Amino acid sequence: MKMWSGRFREPLDSFFDTWQRSITFDRALLQQEVQASKAHARALAAAGVLDEQEQQQISSALDSIAARFSAAKAVEEIGVATGHDAEDIHHFVEMELVELVGNLGLKLHTGRSRNEQVATDLRLYIRESGAMLIRHLGRWANALLAQAVAAGEAAMPAYTHLQRAEPVLVAHWLLAYVEMILRDASRLEDCLERLNFCPLGSGAVAGATLALDRTITSETLRFAAPTANSMDATSDRDFVLEYLQVLTLLGVHVSRFAEEMTLFATAEFGFVELPEAYSTGSSAMPQKKNPDLTELLRAKVGRLSAAAQSVLLTLKGLPLAYNKDMQETQEPVFAATQVAHGMLHLLAGFTHAVRFKTDRMRVACEQGYLNAMAAATYLTEKGVPFRTAHERVGTAVRFGLESGRELQELSLQELQSIEPLFGADVYAAITLEATLDCHDVIGGTARARVRAALAETTQRVQALCSRFALVTEPHADLKEAAHAGT
Ligand code: ARG
Repeated sequence: MKMWSGRFREPLDSFFDTWQRSITFDRALLQQEVQASKAHARALAAAGVLDEQEQQQISSALDSIAARFSAAKAVEEIGVATGHDAEDIHHFVEMELVELVGNLGLKLHTGRSRNEQVATDLRLYIRESGAMLIRHLGRWANALLAQAVAAGEAAMPAYTHLQRAEPVLVAHWLLAYVEMILRDASRLEDCLERLNFCPLGSGAVAGATLALDRTITSETLRFAAPTANSMDATSDRDFVLEYLQVLTLLGVHVSRFAEEMTLFATAEFGFVELPEAYSTGSSAMPQKKNPDLTELLRAKVGRLSAAAQSVLLTLKGLPLAYNKDMQETQEPVFAATQVAHGMLHLLAGFTHAVRFKTDRMRVACEQGYLNAMAAATYLTEKGVPFRTAHERVGTAVRFGLESGRELQELSLQELQSIEPLFGADVYAAITLEATLDCHDVIGGTARARVRAALAETTQRVQALCSRFALVTEPHADLKEAAHAGT
């Protein structure tokens, strides 16, 4: 049975009929459709359209539909092997309901439109998916924090222009990714907060034609409030685009991490030992252990960005209010959610399992004049203007390059021939530890600063996890770190 056959004389072109249906993908919204329908039934009862017993009957039939399709496998059958000929998930649930409760089921559509239903279902879907992804971000952040604790005071070169720049603590580098994750999570939280208004009661475009108490549906579905404007509520998908753009940015961060891991696992860097559980071999070269996981992670942002692009172009220039174009915004949401979920799930496991070769990292810190800034800082403390100090240390570096030595291998006499203010205490000022510790500012890599940052960041991650009910038992050291920071 069609939902709208009354005014038509001719049947639909059969190819068009199949082509325009959304059931093969919007079946992903079944649980949301059921929840929203139950909420609408309550509003109908309050408006006197259903009596209490009818509402109960509809509500428990809807529950049984939800239960029947609780498994992913059952959902995949919808629109393929299910008996009736539903156009979309809204139609499907209604037909299932009618099968269970007879004509009473047809009353459920009183005072509502699919335009508000789909807007509501999508908001519910993104609200749940967003929270799920935030929980995954929390897990990944916890894995990075555990590695930061395990790294202790190990140092590595930091790069600018992919050239060795200055040494940093491995923990400092890992915490940089935790910052990105926390911002991604906060962007997701913002997005979920902004979308958390209930379209039900908006009707097709102008508002429901029944005097519905919209606060009932809104409260039942745990929205903050009913949406304020029926035209906006039924026809904007800005929340969809925002969600996908947030995922794109998250994908960019993942790609940077993945790229660094891929690079650091090369023999040329040799900073990272890839876990076998997350690597693959080569069918041709027996010796190979390939970083397929991090390569795929580096690539996936393309799909996330494509999803955002596709929705952006779909929405551009659409006249108010609902247009069928909007149906095209759904598949990118489902696809991107699945991609992001897979990425974050794997990242947490990979990050726990990866091993840092801190000996190699330390050797890399001690070669290539990474203490040149520390040497210049030493001179500025002796009263030399920084520009001059920079020049003097540059000359010392050239001297070292010419004779194949590091700065600390030049004799005091040699150093003093370049700048008389160099004293014997310069050697203590340019050790690896001193080089780290001279970055003693908030956000710097001095060892005490990183210890404090680790404690403070751990607290922010724990706060995120508890906001989203991610019950993780943090690493014992992390608990201490959090405690030390209070
Ligand atoms: N399947 C449709 C969509 O996803 C549901 C809304 C249809 N509304 C309409 N007036 N044809 O957009």
